[in-house]
Amino acid sequence: MPNNILFDLLGPLYDRIFRQPEPDRLDDPLRLPAEGWLLDLGGGTGRSSDGLQTKIGRRLVCDLSFPMLASGRAKGIRHLVQASATDLPFAPGTFERILVVDALHHMPDQHATTNEMLRVLAAGGRLLIEEPDIRLFAVKLIALMETVLLMKSHFHTPDEIRAMAAVKGAAVAVQSDGRGSVWVMADKAPK
Ligand SMILES: C[S@@+](CC[C@H](N)C(=O)[O-])C[C@H]1O[C@@H](n2cnc3c(N)ncnc32)[C@H](O)[C@@H]1O
Repeated sequence: MPNNILFDLLGPLYDRIFRQPEPDRLDDPLRLPAEGWLLDLGGGTGRSSDGLQTKIGRRLVCDLSFPMLASGRAKGIRHLVQASATDLPFAPGTFERILVVDALHHMPDQHATTNEMLRVLAAGGRLLIEEPDIRLFAVKLIALMETVLLMKSHFHTPDEIRAMAAVKGAAVAVQSDGRGSVWVMADKAPK
């Protein structure tokens, strides 16, 4: 199965299957509230950034899957862009915050993706990558299931993600979210 067909099929149902996370959960790891633009990359329906709108100037959801974005538009999300994370159609330094939840392992070239994210992140801005912790047995089972579904996902360890995010002079920290995922937080140096 080509990588993203599953998300195209799931788009209309996604928010009914996966609950919106608690709105305050990402305040600290994403350094909110903040001014300016938030990019929710691989953001799908915008589920993970729906609760953040009052804490950031503006939000843009970018995803490869048109049906996922269409569900976001049906909810009233105004700024939606269909693009691949490996080739983002944004100028350098556009976003003060970038959020990537449960999506990095679906990206075909994760080094190119982290490079692109650091390119479009503003000086002094923060990138937050939330990924299932592949060191856990339950996550290894999910990875196996995604392999069986021919999803072409590729999970990296927190240290490997940390190394990928440490580009363009970014300072990177890793923390468990206490629920089976890790937060990789990259701060781009101020000007
Ligand atoms: C598991 S969903 C997570 C969606 C959202 N972040 C959330 O928390 O609900 C993974 C998303 O990554 C998107 N995706 C996969 N490959 C992508 C790529 N190369 N560029 C942009 N988005 C991609 C999929 O279309 C899907 O919407």
